[in-house]
Amino acid sequence: MSSFETVKTQLLASPKTWLVTGVAGFIGSNLLEALLKLNQKVIGLDNFATGYQKNLDEVQQSVSSEQWQNFHFIKGDIRDFETCQNAANSVDYVLHQAALGSVPRSIADPITTNAANITGFLNMLEAAKQHSVTSFVYAASSSTYGDHPALPKVEENIGNPLSPYAVTKYVNELYASVYARTYDFNCIGLRYFNVFGKRQDPDGAYAAVIPKWTAAMIKNEQVFINGDGLTSRDFCYIENTVQMNILAATAAKDAKNEVYNVAVGDRTTLNDLFASIKTALIDNGVNVEQAPEYRDFRAGDVRHSQADISKAATKLGYAPGYKIQQGILEAMPWYLNNVK
Ligand SMILES: NC(=O)c1ccc[n+]([C@@H]2O[C@H](COP(=O)([O-])OP(=O)(O)OC[C@H]3O[C@@H](n4cnc5c(N)ncnc54)[C@H](O)[C@@H]3O)[C@@H](O)[C@H]2O)c1
Repeated sequence: MSSFETVKTQLLASPKTWLVTGVAGFIGSNLLEALLKLNQKVIGLDNFATGYQKNLDEVQQSVSSEQWQNFHFIKGDIRDFETCQNAANSVDYVLHQAALGSVPRSIADPITTNAANITGFLNMLEAAKQHSVTSFVYAASSSTYGDHPALPKVEENIGNPLSPYAVTKYVNELYASVYARTYDFNCIGLRYFNVFGKRQDPDGAYAAVIPKWTAAMIKNEQVFINGDGLTSRDFCYIENTVQMNILAATAAKDAKNEVYNVAVGDRTTLNDLFASIKTALIDNGVNVEQAPEYRDFRAGDVRHSQADISKAATKLGYAPGYKIQQGILEAMPWYLNNVK
C-alpha cells in the first residue's frame, strides 16, 4: 500500500493513459484537472447530458498548454457500445463517472436513468475488459445502503434500495463483481457519500444541496430544508474523492475487486450545513440574513448517512485531507465567481 504522495510521485515519473467518462461533469472535470496537473494523458468522454463545455474550458485555464495537449475529448454517449470501445482503446486506467445522478430524477424518469446508469455502465465495463485495461474504477453510491439502519455504514452491510437510482448503482456493483469473478477483471467501486466542491452544478431541479443552497444564499433567494433539518449526511470534499480515485486505480491486486466508502467519516445535519455555508459566505463578505424554510421530507431520501472509512484507509492508504468546513471554505470563491 502506498501513500497518495508516493503514488503521485510515481505517476509523475511514469505517466499513464486514463479514460475519464463524465469528464465534463463535476467530479469528472476535477479528476481531469488533477490528472493533467500530474502530466498524465487523459481521454475524456461525455455527451453533455448534465455536463458543460465551460467545465472543460475552466480546466484548460488551470493547466499549462503542454498539459492540455495531453487531453483528448470524445463527445459521445456511453449508451453506444462502439463509442465505449473507441474510447477505451490503449488506456491503462478507466475512471467511470458518467451517469445520471439524483434520486428525484430517477423517480421522475427511471427509464432514462436506467439506460445511462446500467446499459451505459455495462457497455463501458465490457469495452474496458475487451481492451484489457489495468483497472476499472467506477462511481458507486452510498444510496446502496438504502434502508439499512446501522451507522456508520460498513461496506458489507447494505439494505434495500430506496429509489431507481439506488437500484442502478447497486446493479453496477453486481456487474463489477461478476466481471471480477468470471473474467478476472480488476474493478473497484467507490461508494461516494455526498461529494461537493467547485464545478458542482448549482442550477436545475436536480441540483445537490450544497451548490443549491449556496447559490440561493448568494442570490438572496429562499432556502428550503426538506424535513426537520436533522437529516444528516457525510459530506465529502472533491479533493478527497480525487485522491480515492487515483489510489484505487493504482492499487495492488489484493485491494481490487472491492467496493469502498468514499467519505470523511463525519455526520453533518442539514441545519448545521445551512449554518456552515452561511458562515463561509459571511467570511467572504456576503450578507446572509435569511432563515431556512422547512417543508416535507423528500421521497426516496435516506434519513442518516455516515461512512466507516477504515477499509479504504487500511487497504488503499486513503487519508481524507479535508473536513466539511475546510471544503466549503475552499469551494466558496468558485460559487461567488460563477453564480449569476
Ligand atoms: N456528486 C455526488 O455526490 C455523487 C454521489 C454518489 C455518486 N455519484 C456518482 O458520481 C458520478 C459523477 O457525478 P457528478 O456529481 O460529477 O455528476 P455530473 O452530472 O456533474 O456528471 C456526470 C457526467 O456524466 C455525463 N453523462 C451522463 N450520461 C451520459 C451518457 N449517456 N454518455 C456520456 N456521458 C454522460 C454528464 O453529461 C456529466 O458530465 C455519477 O456516476 C454519479 O452517479 C455522485
